[in-house]
Amino acid sequence: MRRSLIALVLAAGEGTRFKSALPKVLHPLLGKPMIRLVTDSIRQLKPKRICLVVGHKKEQVTAEFAGEDIAFVRQARQLGTAHAVLSAKAILAAHKEADVLIINGDLPLLRPSTLKPLLESHRRRGNDLTFMSAEIEDPSGFGRLVRDGGGAVRIVEEKDATPGERGIREINAGVYVFKVRALLEALPLIKNDNVKGEYYLTDIVEIMGGKKKRIGLHKTPRASEVVGVNTRFELSRAVAALRERKARELAESGVTIHDPRSAWIDLDVEIGRDTVLYPLVVIEGRTRIGGGCRVYPNVHILNSRIGDGVDILSSSVVEECEIENGVRVGPFSRLRPKTVLKAGSKVGNFVEMKNTVFGSRSKALHLSYLGDSVVGEDVNIGAGTITCNYDGIRKNPTHIEDGAFIGSGTELVAPVRVGRKAYVAAGSTITEDVGSEALAIARARQVEKPGWVRKRPKKA
Ligand code: UD1
Ligand code: CA
Repeated sequence: MRRSLIALVLAAGEGTRFKSALPKVLHPLLGKPMIRLVTDSIRQLKPKRICLVVGHKKEQVTAEFAGEDIAFVRQARQLGTAHAVLSAKAILAAHKEADVLIINGDLPLLRPSTLKPLLESHRRRGNDLTFMSAEIEDPSGFGRLVRDGGGAVRIVEEKDATPGERGIREINAGVYVFKVRALLEALPLIKNDNVKGEYYLTDIVEIMGGKKKRIGLHKTPRASEVVGVNTRFELSRAVAALRERKARELAESGVTIHDPRSAWIDLDVEIGRDTVLYPLVVIEGRTRIGGGCRVYPNVHILNSRIGDGVDILSSSVVEECEIENGVRVGPFSRLRPKTVLKAGSKVGNFVEMKNTVFGSRSKALHLSYLGDSVVGEDVNIGAGTITCNYDGIRKNPTHIEDGAFIGSGTELVAPVRVGRKAYVAAGSTITEDVGSEALAIARARQVEKPGWVRKRPKKA
């Protein structure tokens, strides 16, 4: 029978080199915390249990996984990666016959398909330990893989390495699979007699080798995925790699991204076929965009649902909105949370909406603000229409019913309702409800004084 698998993620470190109030492993990469990328990958291997070793600001880390099937153990002081593993002793002891995948929490680029061959090789060979290495261009900062001849291997940390060893470009990735029993035997033998005075998990390779345990090395060809993120600059590099990955995925599924290097698309974003993204778009959060849409430059979309055949023209901001099929937005529109644009509606330049349902085929094409409004179908909102939704104490609703026509420069002082097919004359300040099919004019009558210019008093 196949041995069962548990997983241990080391995430107790402070990430000193980040110089951040936020724990390193919570820093997001395209909308997902670093640690979440690691656990997402691990989940694909279907371990029986995932356990996180937490320490530095542990409340924040555990809060990220609230309500999820993840166990936590606390490493009160961060005395090294072996000490971190030792903190999970109780969980390990409860799974003595299992394999355990141990992985550093700062490896956000590792894909499940890169982890799988490691696990398979471990199982196939019945190893006590199998760990991952990679050959990289610049190995600085990593533990180096030293082959001592006769098949023996050990890992030497950069700080403890001789100049000769520093030249080695094969590095320890920070991903290990152990038979739990063998791990528990060897773990207490690790000492902290090294430059940093830490208990290094990496020493276990030499220790187990000395005890003639079966050790396997899985050298992954996907070296670019084993970059450990230790600094913010490395974080930005990892983000760049993920952006490329996301752009490739979308392109393969039928999305045109004219300039993947300038498009910023969070990992959870979904986009349908034949949608075209122009340069400099930012699409964040749980946004879903349908097929056949066009998103033009400088558009920022956040946590929104967008249907098919929608055009979002340049320099528009769309936040927590729902946009139905065939809508046109922008250029220069600002759509704030809880705005719903029904099918075929049009919102134009310098139009702001908030908490507003905007009916099918309705138009607001220029310079308007609609807040807390319900606008029916086929409504025309003239240029410069403002809903005066705030009276200084509360927000009040405006209702504009189907087919109504709001003339330019209108102020609608809420709460107020404009009935079906009613007209509001341009320049009106509407304070009372307008009946269906009525015309409301609410402005001062024009006064004309003929010849006034000639008759006005001359300058002194
Ligand atoms: C580690 C490896 C190194 C490898 C590299 C790969 C050791 C000693 N070295 O080095 O061989 O090449 O990863 O990226 O393991 N952590 C704890 N508790 C601790 C210390 C660390 O939970 O007491 C966690 C950290 O939060 C981090 C992970 O373990 O997620 C790795 O620690 P880090 O200090 O980044 O190790 P590296 O120096 O990168
Ligand atoms: Ca690291």
